[in-house]
Amino acid sequence: MKILILPGDGVGKEVTSEAQKVINIISKLYKLDIDIDFGYFGGEAVDKFDSPFPSQTIQKVKNSDAVLLGAVGGPQYDNVPKEKKPETGLLELRKSLNLFLNVRPIISFKESVDYSSVKKELIEELDIIIIRELVSGIYFGEPRGFNSDFTEAYNTMRYNQKEISRVADYALNLSRERSKKLCSVDKANVLEVSQLWRSTVEENAEKFKDVQLSHMYVDNAAMQLVQNPKQFDVIVTENLFGDILSDLASVLTGSIGLLPSASLNNDGFGVYEPIHGSAPDIANKNIVNPIATILSVAMLFQHTYKRVDIYEHILKSVKLVLRDGKYTRDLAEVDFISTNEMGDCIIQKIEELYK
Ligand code: IPM
Ligand code: MN
Repeated sequence: MKILILPGDGVGKEVTSEAQKVINIISKLYKLDIDIDFGYFGGEAVDKFDSPFPSQTIQKVKNSDAVLLGAVGGPQYDNVPKEKKPETGLLELRKSLNLFLNVRPIISFKESVDYSSVKKELIEELDIIIIRELVSGIYFGEPRGFNSDFTEAYNTMRYNQKEISRVADYALNLSRERSKKLCSVDKANVLEVSQLWRSTVEENAEKFKDVQLSHMYVDNAAMQLVQNPKQFDVIVTENLFGDILSDLASVLTGSIGLLPSASLNNDGFGVYEPIHGSAPDIANKNIVNPIATILSVAMLFQHTYKRVDIYEHILKSVKLVLRDGKYTRDLAEVDFISTNEMGDCIIQKIEELYK
């Protein structure tokens, strides 16, 4: 097994180094042969190689089964040209590997619901999965650009049926394994792209008569997610809508520091990363919550290596550590533990549970 770690910027190094401890303990307990390598990515790579996704990192990605990514970005890159933005590296990574499927589980932990800005009873036991299309739509659509005197700019939201169909199919299959309820989010009252999105999802759903498919406009979905989130189980949507809705949904759980994600292609290859960003304001203070990245490791075993048992093992360990009252600063005003201590508590729990 070959895992490439790209720590990236901001809090990226701190969270990936705790996640690496988890990979090590899992590899020891389950006697797995895991080879870990590291690469430069994002702002750090811009500083060193003048590119956010330099060729030596591209090579390392090609040689790995899966990538564990920390975070990219920082205020010092706000005004640099597009090809030197850390975010451009991330988009290139997604596009070049055709990681069209982004899986973002929104799970609330009992211990964190008090920290949510939404009423506790609305979000207790929340368990939603957002499936976001990741390599098409307005993020990548051509034409795009500025006019010659920079007084006008344009982007293109564009999808073909194949691009819609492959995410719809995944979402329908996933719904079938879960509560058999799928909500597809679009803006079909205004956008042609959304009309194609809707009819294509419907066509795919014909093979899934047991799944109850519904459609919702994105503005309404944003409102419903805050007002009555438990009506949702699996949500499938296009790139930009998924970007916005997944941030919105993440605050339901109390801390964005808890939520992992997987970006997958058809070959089982995946990039796994916390959904929080580089958070430069709290970097290098040993206070960031490493749980989102540790759960991303769990998703890595689940999706790339098909080890649902290891996924469950890591998830259960995290839940038990929280249940023991161990919180990082995002979840406690006083008596919080550090990033390192959280990592140590989780690996200790992983060992205990294995016995
Ligand atoms: C995300 C991020 C990225 C996105 C940025 C960093 C390019 O917000 O993964 O949600 O917009 O997709
Ligand atoms: Mn985002």
